[in-house]
Amino acid sequence: MMNIIKLLEDLTQINSVSGNETDIRKYIRPFVEPYCDEVYTDAIGNLVAHKKGVGKKFMAAAHMDEIGIIVTDIDDKGFARFSPIGGLNTRNLVNLRVCFANGITGVIGAQEDAFKEKPEISKLYIDLGADSKEMAEKLINIGDTAAFAGGFINRGDTVVSKALDNRAGCAVLIDTLSRVNSKNDLYFVFTVQEEVGLRGAKTAAFSIEPDIAVAVDVTDTGDTPDAPVMAVKLGGGAAVKVMDHSVICDSDIRTKMIETAKKNNIPYQLEIMPDGGTDAGAVQLTRAGVKTGGISVPVRYVHSPSETASIKDIEACSALLKSFAEQEW
Ligand code: CO
Ligand code: ZN
Repeated sequence: MMNIIKLLEDLTQINSVSGNETDIRKYIRPFVEPYCDEVYTDAIGNLVAHKKGVGKKFMAAAHMDEIGIIVTDIDDKGFARFSPIGGLNTRNLVNLRVCFANGITGVIGAQEDAFKEKPEISKLYIDLGADSKEMAEKLINIGDTAAFAGGFINRGDTVVSKALDNRAGCAVLIDTLSRVNSKNDLYFVFTVQEEVGLRGAKTAAFSIEPDIAVAVDVTDTGDTPDAPVMAVKLGGGAAVKVMDHSVICDSDIRTKMIETAKKNNIPYQLEIMPDGGTDAGAVQLTRAGVKTGGISVPVRYVHSPSETASIKDIEACSALLKSFAEQEW
């Protein structure tokens, strides 16, 4: 097994906001190449790792993009305005640091009239440390994207970082590829633009035409004080997706996943995530439909710089994906 913690640290600290996945794709490619017959990037930017086999076409998808912001305007005093890329909660944004691809760091501020429960995004701005439009434009431009700054912390059993959604899923795919031994025709896809509408998964599934597909992503949990009711908890094992906002998983796949977990003593729990979708939703509706399921890493504080996950859960997800991909269909 790989050193998952080190891999996670490296993966999470790369900034690749949706639509700008070049850096993360470059990083992942050499990790998967030794285990595959072909590795390619498609037109939209998905990285496809193909390990040939004579059995069914099995597709595993993990999105490699992350949420962030995009600059929409720079004013005369050098402050930037921005739009969200993906599901940002404006309540959590004020006074956060964001990091642009070129290394420039900005601080998100709020207008005085916006200090309330949920400020409108139009009342927030990015302070770049510039005092004029000219100076700001030397640092960034309209259309530039920035990700949360959120360093990686290893607490032993748990890790804290930005972008565990979904670099945790990417780590699961990489780790699985390094040790899977399957007769199936495996396509492990690192998808783009999930956070803005499951876009990369849609084109990848269309071209691959899988018989069976599994999306690996993160899920919310219900185990913090006064959290909304949800059965998933940190440390409870791999979450077998039953349903989220985008998909009701194929019942044969779900049943087989549970059997696989039981047979191999892999800790698992059942996931119903009321809010939020995953690549599973897009893949299932491709062409004439694809039998699709999901494996999720439980994560607290999703879409914040302090996403928190359990290493044991991530290892359980990898064990489950491996055993599942090795099934005969
Ligand atoms: Co997300
Ligand atoms: Zn995600």
